[in-house]
Amino acid sequence: MTDVLILGGTGWLSGRVAARWVADGASVTCLARGGRPVPDGATLVVADRAEADAYTAVAAREWDEVVDISSIPEHVDSAVRALAERAAHWTYVSSLSVYASDVDVDADETAALHEPAVTGEEYDYGRAKSAAEASVRAALAERVAIVRPGLIVGPGDPTDRFGYWVGRFALAGAEPVLAPVLDGLRAQVIDVDDLAGFITARGGAGWHGVANATGESIPLRELLTAAREAAGHTGPLVEADDEWLTARDVAHWAGPRSLPLWLPRDMPGFATRSIRAYHAAGGGLRDLGQTLRRTLSDERGRGLDRERRSGLSRAEELELLAQRP
Ligand SMILES: NC(=O)c1ccc[n+]([C@@H]2O[C@H](COP(=O)([O-])OP(=O)(O)OC[C@H]3O[C@@H](n4cnc5c(N)ncnc54)[C@H](OP(=O)(O)O)[C@@H]3O)[C@@H](O)[C@H]2O)c1
Repeated sequence: MTDVLILGGTGWLSGRVAARWVADGASVTCLARGGRPVPDGATLVVADRAEADAYTAVAAREWDEVVDISSIPEHVDSAVRALAERAAHWTYVSSLSVYASDVDVDADETAALHEPAVTGEEYDYGRAKSAAEASVRAALAERVAIVRPGLIVGPGDPTDRFGYWVGRFALAGAEPVLAPVLDGLRAQVIDVDDLAGFITARGGAGWHGVANATGESIPLRELLTAAREAAGHTGPLVEADDEWLTARDVAHWAGPRSLPLWLPRDMPGFATRSIRAYHAAGGGLRDLGQTLRRTLSDERGRGLDRERRSGLSRAEELELLAQRP
């Protein structure tokens, strides 16, 4: 039986990777602090990776596959020190945020990375991922797969970004929805289960390499049109220009009072990464409509008008719409 250790396994992506490995018949151990359940069939080892003895319960075993998703360089480094010698293969989940520039369109995995983070400096996600990649690469060389996801979407998304649009169109029905001016904007997303499938399959094959793991780059207008169709929205889409939105404290991309997936226009490389390596390694991408339909079902279950981590509340949106000429 394949012995798999997930460092994490109680979170969103790592939980789905753990569940996928269980479904594939592996013996799955998840190491986490224990506040949330592991998928059925997996075993939880409770440990805090901030502690020096975090890996004691798992370090004496041989692992066919270790998966790490941490974005804390010290945790990634301590894990490879404790476990790399006995691991046949390791998958590190990094991010497209590891790249130093968001200017070049169609950049592939050879693009320059951020300088690795240095302990003691203010936390920076991209630099933290760069330092973490460097640790696993140094310790595991030809035994590591580095997977760099773009925006992960689908049911259960704790960030509330992608689901905002299909959920808002469903909530609005025949009423207007506010959007940024869509011309020139693009989007690139990956369904959480396509990503989990890729991580599991490549781990099982002992694949060594680096891959941007995200979807085809499409116009944001195409994504929003598909979201409107999935939600049955018949009202108007009101496009407001960037200056008008920023003057009213509407934020790009994510977080409270934002329009999710709306990017500053000086980042043309952000949603236009090459995914040739992902395809070459066998990565699959489901139809966007399917992802939108299952996201909408999840959004309905969680409440279309709930308080969200990302997006405008419907009240904020209506107030902004009322200010349009
Ligand atoms: N969301 C996106 O669009 C996006 C895009 C690009 C890349 N990514 C990457 O995708 C991955 C997402 O993974 P995820 O969804 O599983 O993340 P997550 O939901 O944040 O889960 C983190 C996991 O790590 C465990 N953990 C956290 N701190 C710990 C500690 N001190 N000691 C032991 N365990 C600890 C958590 O369990 P406990 O809390 O129980 O300890 C949980 O199992 C990350 O690598 C992220 O950087 C995400």
